[in-house]
Amino acid sequence: MKNIDISPSIISSNLLELGNQIKECQVAGAKSFHLDIMDGHFVNNLTMGPDMVSAVRKATDLRLDCHLMIERPDRYYKSFVDAGCDVLLVHYETPIEVGNFLKKLEDEGIRYGIVLNPDTDVKKIYKFVPTSEIVLVMSVYPGFSGQKFIDKSLDKVRELRKFIDENYYQAKIEIDGGINAETGKLARDAGADILVSASYIFNNNIGDSINKLKSL
Ligand code: DX5
Ligand code: ZN
Repeated sequence: MKNIDISPSIISSNLLELGNQIKECQVAGAKSFHLDIMDGHFVNNLTMGPDMVSAVRKATDLRLDCHLMIERPDRYYKSFVDAGCDVLLVHYETPIEVGNFLKKLEDEGIRYGIVLNPDTDVKKIYKFVPTSEIVLVMSVYPGFSGQKFIDKSLDKVRELRKFIDENYYQAKIEIDGGINAETGKLARDAGADILVSASYIFNNNIGDSINKLKSL
């Protein structure tokens, strides 16, 4: 059976215990960490900035993915990379010209993934798949953790799985929003490679939840 990677989103962690919680995630077998960066413009919420990324960087050697829910990734991406982010997850829906921005990242040797919102047609991001390390399918409207999984995102995962496999692309399919043992299994069966999860992991026993997600 195909292995699924787990990427805990620290948005739901206990910040006073973050160092220990990162260790718990690692011991349980997390493969990367997901940092939800929100600017109060692209989404109606404010979260963390580069300082948080550099604190997490000091606590782990695992891959750090920064999910940029910000209006101007072109203005701020460098500070996240300098803080220790490994992969920038860039929304197709950002109001900048995303193709030019991704090309710039490529020229600068910066790793990235492309993200699509629940209402975005998956075909719109096809042209970015060959050069993306990750394709992130949002299974909630971005902004908050603890929302309900949107079932129709599974169709997108299936479609992307086929597109990536048929063309032998390297991109991993990641899914983010409302992931628990039940929806995680549906996503895995649809072809997802990586599950992002915040509230299911951090509002329960961290080790148990990660183990459940790993062994769906
Ligand atoms: C939503 C974020 C997600 C979210 C996941 O805007 O991108 O990473 O916090 O939270 P859960 O797993 O609780 O749905
Ligand atoms: Zn996210």
